[in-house]
Amino acid sequence: MEERGTKSNILGVKIGGIEMRNPTMFASGFLGLSKDMIKRIDRVNAGAVVSKSISYEHILGYRNPTVVCLQGGSYINAVGLANPGAEAFSAESSTSFSTPLIISLIGSSEYDFSRLITSFGNSKASGYEINLSCPHVAKLGLEVGDDPEMVGKVVKTIKSATAKPVFVKVGIGNADLLEISRVAADSGADAITAVNSIRAMAIDIESGHPILSNRIGGLSGKCIKPIAVRCVYEIYREVDVPVIGCGGIFSWEDAVEFMLAGAAAVQIGSAIAYEGLGVFRSITAGLKMYLEKKDLKNAGEIVGIAHR
Ligand SMILES: Cc1cc2nc3c(=O)[nH]c(=O)nc-3n(C[C@H](O)[C@H](O)[C@H](O)COP(=O)(O)O)c2cc1C
Repeated sequence: MEERGTKSNILGVKIGGIEMRNPTMFASGFLGLSKDMIKRIDRVNAGAVVSKSISYEHILGYRNPTVVCLQGGSYINAVGLANPGAEAFSAESSTSFSTPLIISLIGSSEYDFSRLITSFGNSKASGYEINLSCPHVAKLGLEVGDDPEMVGKVVKTIKSATAKPVFVKVGIGNADLLEISRVAADSGADAITAVNSIRAMAIDIESGHPILSNRIGGLSGKCIKPIAVRCVYEIYREVDVPVIGCGGIFSWEDAVEFMLAGAAAVQIGSAIAYEGLGVFRSITAGLKMYLEKKDLKNAGEIVGIAHR
């Protein structure tokens, strides 16, 4: 079993060898891609940052509307994995940051992933997260992540091309999530991130048309939290590598719930859009108070307690 917390400080965790000052991470898709933006992140007290998913060639993404805001902190998005491509992003990721940067990778085939990882040879990233779970782009994300054989091949391809830690981000598609997580772990993934947004749609009742230009998008935010907690709980029992929880985390209580279910760290996405970057400080302050109140020495001590 890989590290599920270290004793260096009360909030410090180490996942796949990546030391984080606390267990909170930016989820992929919520960070501008410029150097300046990544530097600003150093000031918000996140434990790590996952970039927007990057493909080898740039992707323009879908036409507007790309996001539907639902009540109370939930969203449906179909941005279409818009990103500048590997060459443009590797220039941005060649600077060192004090917050570990994890580059999210997106591709359709072993060939795609292999040339993608090669293009980040000079990057200062601390690791990679393979997005095998975007729910709304043809031939990418879930369409790869729903095929266990392909998942194994992609993870092995990337692991053989880098010595850095590789996380695999899973989601709710047509395949068995637990099987996909197990295949990813058995193929060398250093952690499993669960979950991505969940296929959903919204229809405008006046016009009768789906609201998103892509019609189908991914549901995120508060309303998916109980589903994501369940996924983390089940994956934790299935794999021997750390699980990173993601889905509807807005408060320190949410973070604690994910950790009790088995998350060694938590990724925060929609809460950044809803509440701003201060969410990292409020979650880490609350988590620290909780650990101290329980007389615990490290955040790792609460990971998986709900399984007892
Ligand atoms: C606008 C938007 C863009 C996203 N882009 C990505 C992406 O590029 N790669 C990825 O792996 N996940 C992406 N996600 C999914 C999030 O990283 C996260 O898994 C999901 O939103 C659930 O977490 P949350 O409820 O905290 O937002 C995106 C989500 C949103 C709302």
